Amino acid sequence: MSTVFSGIQPTGEPHIGNLFGAMFNYVKLGEQYGKNAIYCIVDLHAPTNPLAYDKSTLARLTYEMALANMAVGLDPEKVIFFVQSHVREHSELSWLFTVQTPVGELERMTQYKDKAGKLESVPAGLLMYPVLMAADILLYKADTVPVGEDQLQHIELTREIARRFNHTFGETFPEPRAVLTQEALRVPGVDGNGKMGKSKGPGSTIGILEDFGSIWQKLRVAPTDPARVRRTDPGNPDICLIFDYHKLFSDLPTIQMVDVECRRAGIGCIDCKKALLTGIERTLTPIQARAAELQQRPQQVYDALAHGADQARAIAQPVMEEVREKMGFLKL
Ligand code: TYM
Repeated sequence: MSTVFSGIQPTGEPHIGNLFGAMFNYVKLGEQYGKNAIYCIVDLHAPTNPLAYDKSTLARLTYEMALANMAVGLDPEKVIFFVQSHVREHSELSWLFTVQTPVGELERMTQYKDKAGKLESVPAGLLMYPVLMAADILLYKADTVPVGEDQLQHIELTREIARRFNHTFGETFPEPRAVLTQEALRVPGVDGNGKMGKSKGPGSTIGILEDFGSIWQKLRVAPTDPARVRRTDPGNPDICLIFDYHKLFSDLPTIQMVDVECRRAGIGCIDCKKALLTGIERTLTPIQARAAELQQRPQQVYDALAHGADQARAIAQPVMEEVREKMGFLKL
């Protein structure tokens, strides 16, 4: 049977890009794969980006990311769910891959180039980021990785790392493939500034647990088709991020209505945004209710993560033994 692995960084509040690009898929695949579905809050990745990392918030954000995933429907009893730094083998395998990975391959990664471009001093960890990611996946010999489109290049590198290891030390790792959610490859930010991203700050994101008043403030001022200056101008939904969101949140009759009415100026942008808010409320209300319930019992989240780390370690340790032996380390 296949093994599914995915990770999510605790660098900010989880947003609807994470939800549609990845978290809903975790739940769906979890139902199919049970304990062969392994999900991780990747806290060791967080400090690679000094702009997104803060010592004083890391633990809280890690807890909140776990809680949000459970509120969305991830069931720690059914799948394996844990925090990366609680399973030390991630760091060890990452090092053993680091020594085998050409720097040139890492320098080609577009996310690295984007993030490094914003920094005066680039930590080596930012360059090694995708190697740690490969270690996350291959530590469990996972072959199926649900992610958004922005991670495809990293998955391709993971395949390359697995191939190189197998070639040098003998068949050990599968070459994993990404699983994308077709309708949510790259959810745009609500500020109209490209992809929605945790590290771009709250101006870009619609939080899964954000209150609806605050979501409305963002939607109200969100850019729409720039050619639609007056209410009477026809609009083009194909270039409007509000329409992109409708496709995620609204029912089919609403999506079709917006598509037709926007083009013939039958609906104004504010009414269109109000209809969207209704869909957002319908989707997020049950998630927020479950989150509020879990907030009352934080120990339940901690216990789930502790149990998950034990289960993850039980898989990871024999794989590390195999890797150490294949690479020729002294065994006592
Ligand atoms: P992260 O924490 O940035 O994002 C978590 C997941 O959400 C997806 N995603 C999006 N999907 C669609 N539209 C968006 N606007 C959007 N923003 C984020 C991401 O593609 C991702 O699937 N490097 C990873 C974490 C990671 C990982 C792993 C993933 C570490 N190790 C091993 C898979 C396997 C990351 O930064 O995700």
